[in-house]
Amino acid sequence: MINKIDGAAYASNLRKQLAIDVAAVKEISGKSPGLTVVLVGEDPASQVYVRKKGEQAAEVGIISTEHRLPATASQAELLALVETLNNDAQVHGILVQLPLPSQIDEKTILTAILPEKDVDGFHPVNVGKLSIGDESLLPCTPHGSVHLIKHALGDDLSGLNAVVVGRSNIVGKPMAALLLQESCTVTIVHSRTKNIEAICANADILVAAVGRPEMINADWIKEGACVIDVGINRIQRDGKNKLVGDVDYASAGEKAGAITPVPGGVGPMTIAMLLVNTLTAFKRIEKLT
Ligand code: GUN
Repeated sequence: MINKIDGAAYASNLRKQLAIDVAAVKEISGKSPGLTVVLVGEDPASQVYVRKKGEQAAEVGIISTEHRLPATASQAELLALVETLNNDAQVHGILVQLPLPSQIDEKTILTAILPEKDVDGFHPVNVGKLSIGDESLLPCTPHGSVHLIKHALGDDLSGLNAVVVGRSNIVGKPMAALLLQESCTVTIVHSRTKNIEAICANADILVAAVGRPEMINADWIKEGACVIDVGINRIQRDGKNKLVGDVDYASAGEKAGAITPVPGGVGPMTIAMLLVNTLTAFKRIEKLT
């Protein structure tokens, strides 16, 4: 039997608590936390995420605004918008949805966002703070994943072998940093790694974030391991569109001690942690902590 980690239910509980916390800070300060999401272009997956972010922000009492720029927008236009949002006292969190069109340099944009409003945790200042264990705004997907791991294994992860598959700036690298902070023994594996399957099969915690549909099956899994599947891959199967992770859920799930499904695992947690970060940013900016 598969022991599913229900990220959707966990995220729903988090949002309920968050609604209470947001109401409390409103009561104290007379102000509301504000989140602004910027979407450049019309990538269908990004549009879905942006809509969900807006809906769930509203659900917990965060004022959410959306800015849409055409796919042809210049870097200067986007920089000007970020600057406006940096200076807007109603905006406590700024998220620029990735990926950006090729004429815009991602690093330039992410660095232009004020670190204290960087609810994605992607600004080099926040990345650096995470790396040295300083208080910062944490990247949402890795932070949400740690919540789910602790939900499955308990709060003490020290000494466990954690393997992160993938080395992206958005997930792989910050995930490894967070697990290291939890005193795990952390290995990052990637496309050039030798004996990747054997390394994964030694993991007590396996985090898959590569973007390859169902690459990881039962052979890669240690009996009883906690498996976190960050992948969201759209595939065609039996003539139908389907969403699958980087892990073959049916096969890996039989061997894992606990495993996140796709959808309904990490995805809902990412958005919940974005809302958590927005409240954190609000409290710091408004000096309520
Ligand atoms: N695109 C895919 N994941 C993310 C994310 O966590 N934040 C942003 N800004 N864009 C994304």
